[in-house]
Amino acid sequence: MERPVPTDVEHEVSSIDLIVSKSDAEGNITYANPIFVKISGYSQGELLDKPHSILRHPDMPKVVFKYLWDNIKQGKEVVAYVKNLCKDGGYYWVLAQVRMAKNPDGSFRNYVSTRRCVSESAKKTIGALYADLLKIEQEEGVEASEKALENFLAEHGQSFDTFNDFMKQLNQ
Ligand SMILES: Cc1cc2nc3c(=O)[nH]c(=O)nc-3n(C[C@H](O)[C@H](O)[C@H](O)COP(=O)(O)O)c2cc1C
Repeated sequence: MERPVPTDVEHEVSSIDLIVSKSDAEGNITYANPIFVKISGYSQGELLDKPHSILRHPDMPKVVFKYLWDNIKQGKEVVAYVKNLCKDGGYYWVLAQVRMAKNPDGSFRNYVSTRRCVSESAKKTIGALYADLLKIEQEEGVEASEKALENFLAEHGQSFDTFNDFMKQLNQ
């Protein structure tokens, strides 16, 4: 499938929307709820068994996904802002809460992502941060953007340990 050409058209996520998907251990989509299907612009059939990166927007810095995977693989929940690319080239912002779900015997069942709308102030703050991180990683690599992300957190009196709570706070 060809990658959509990004446009400046934003698709609004309303305050009652809850966009849910599940994936296997590699991030391939195994479930997409109706609102996920609707906002992405893809059909259920186009989404299932495809990697979540089908939604990857070129404005997203790699370091966010590195941080996501480093943590969820260890069973730690991550709350992070994501700008996603729709089939029509438009985009939508979400605050995603991603976690590993386990079977009763403790083995891996799937990853679950639950996404909500993002406030205009958080879009502004995070949009500017992600633009900086993207530039840094294009010029100096992901390690440098990871350091820049750590600096951003420190400037706000935060660290990777308080990442999730801080991201939630920013959305108020
Ligand atoms: C449950 C789950 C949900 C995800 N949701 C998204 C998403 O909405 N958008 C996105 O770009 N990546 C999402 N990812 C991350 C992708 O797997 C991938 O790391 C990311 O798109 C970067 O792709 P790339 O490494 O091929 O550049 C999700 C991963 C998991 C496990």
